[in-house]
Amino acid sequence: MTDSATSSNPTIVLAGATGDLGLRIARHLVQRGAAVRALVRPSNTSPAVASPRELGVEVVEVDFNSVAALQQACTGAACVVSALSGLREVIVDAQKRLLDAAVAAGVPRFIPSDYCIDYTKLPAGSNRNLDLRREFSQRLDQTPIQATSVLNGMFTDLLTGQAPVILFSPKRVVYWGSADQPLDFTTIENTAEFTAAAALDPTTPRYLRVAGEVATVRGLQAAASAATRQPFRLLWAGSVGVLGAMSKIAKALTPKNDDVFPPWQGMQYLHNMFTGKPKLAPLDNARYPEIRWTSVQEVLATRPAA
Ligand SMILES: NC(=O)c1ccc[n+]([C@@H]2O[C@H](COP(=O)([O-])OP(=O)(O)OC[C@H]3O[C@@H](n4cnc5c(N)ncnc54)[C@H](OP(=O)(O)O)[C@@H]3O)[C@@H](O)[C@H]2O)c1
Repeated sequence: MTDSATSSNPTIVLAGATGDLGLRIARHLVQRGAAVRALVRPSNTSPAVASPRELGVEVVEVDFNSVAALQQACTGAACVVSALSGLREVIVDAQKRLLDAAVAAGVPRFIPSDYCIDYTKLPAGSNRNLDLRREFSQRLDQTPIQATSVLNGMFTDLLTGQAPVILFSPKRVVYWGSADQPLDFTTIENTAEFTAAAALDPTTPRYLRVAGEVATVRGLQAAASAATRQPFRLLWAGSVGVLGAMSKIAKALTPKNDDVFPPWQGMQYLHNMFTGKPKLAPLDNARYPEIRWTSVQEVLATRPAA
């Protein structure tokens, strides 16, 4: 372990700092006193690169295809945090190179880009994106590094439109299976704050599970009604099996492309959640008591009125 890894202002290497979650992790790390080194692709000429710099983050251009270059960029870090997003070439291939580089550089800890429902409890083949995380985690577990995955359920923010569960215009909450199945939701901001705290905590276990709110569909109905001051009704769309079959049909009908979150993948995710299998338990919400968890209702209330 290097001096930086043990100092009170440890260096945290962050991959994905130009992304939505990654930039928020960077901000929380800076607020907590870390020296943040963001690894960005040399090809990235987008304005997003300016954002970590404005936070006071050291931005290092690095070839993600080169373990040697990544090793040099990881040197002296207390933890490598990944907030990369993508399919196999990112979640498995690029993260493997980053992991190999972190190990070669003597970095003691690694947080992979998981940030999802509990894939450790799901059968292989039930969710394309989570299968990739499981595959990477198997590699991680064979590596001499202290790994911690943050599992946070679904980003609550998706309930304002992207996830087809709360329909604001007809004022319906759509569901499959049981309206009483507990579901895990955490905002992107809370996930970032918790991840930053975990990155600076040398005692984290292999998995940390958090949920800003555990809500049933009836709870979502109450939250939507309270947030909009309009009554929402429930709409049962079928059994959990029906949703599983729909996701398979949608996948079969969709031409193959590189979309990370095609509609059929969102359906796989909802199907997983409504089965109850990936329910997060026990929750580690109290691990960093300063974090205030944002409720579903608070998030829905931020949605502009139609
Ligand atoms: N639980 C949920 O509901 C939920 C929902 C959405 C996302 N997530 C997860 O949250 C994590 C972060 O997602 P996000 O939405 O913040 O993603 P994002 O905004 O798309 O950002 C992705 C980041 O990854 C980088 N990246 C992508 N491909 C790369 C490559 N080949 N080499 C190096 N860097 C690469 C991007 O860099 P460039 O700027 O160079 O492109 C960017 O910094 C992912 O694990 C994602 O699956 C969870």
